[in-house]
Amino acid sequence: MSKLKVVVVSGNLGSPSKTLILAEQILETLKRQANVQKEIHQLAELAPLIGPARHPGELGDFAQAALLSIASADILIAVTPVYKGSYTGLFKHLFDFLDPQALNETPVILGATGGGDKHALIIEHQLRPLFGFFGALTVPSGIYASEQNYDGSRFSDPAILERIEAAARQALAAARSRAERDRQAKAA
Ligand SMILES: Cc1cc2nc3c(=O)[nH]c(=O)nc-3n(C[C@H](O)[C@H](O)[C@H](O)COP(=O)(O)O)c2cc1C
Repeated sequence: MSKLKVVVVSGNLGSPSKTLILAEQILETLKRQANVQKEIHQLAELAPLIGPARHPGELGDFAQAALLSIASADILIAVTPVYKGSYTGLFKHLFDFLDPQALNETPVILGATGGGDKHALIIEHQLRPLFGFFGALTVPSGIYASEQNYDGSRFSDPAILERIEAAARQALAAARSRAERDRQAKAA
């Protein structure tokens, strides 16, 4: 199979970012399991460009290119810091500009970082329904990581690493079966 395009949308608004570190750990795990190319989009970079826009026509080339990249992902990694129990407003604002069909059947790995464990259900109650709207194939294993799981440079808690491994495995299986379906449809 040719290289899989893995696209990261990280909702971090600052740098350095634990959320981006979590995304990079997920990417590393995917790379160990498959031949992948990556594209990373951070809200920290997109925020000033998308913030004032009300519809996609008002977006400049950089933001439009990010939306095209997201829509062309073989696997999407969608990660966000928890702000007030949910994804950040600008994370949602970016996805508001995406065509409703753009992620149809795209495998998506969901992740979030927070100050504590209180809002771990952001994965199930906030992120999964958002990607359900787009008809995406969110993988069953979501990854929530808090300050307590962070060792100063990365998330090294074995339970988190296990969830990353599982999510990567599930996303790769979904991407491969989707590619096979597309191949068969083209051959028919
Ligand atoms: C405005 C704001 C709101 C936050 N709200 C929450 C929250 O509701 N629950 C939580 O667990 N952490 C909350 N946090 C903590 C961040 O989610 C946490 O520090 C996260 O790992 C930061 O990610 P980053 O390093 O990528 O910016 C909040 C932080 C900020 C700045």
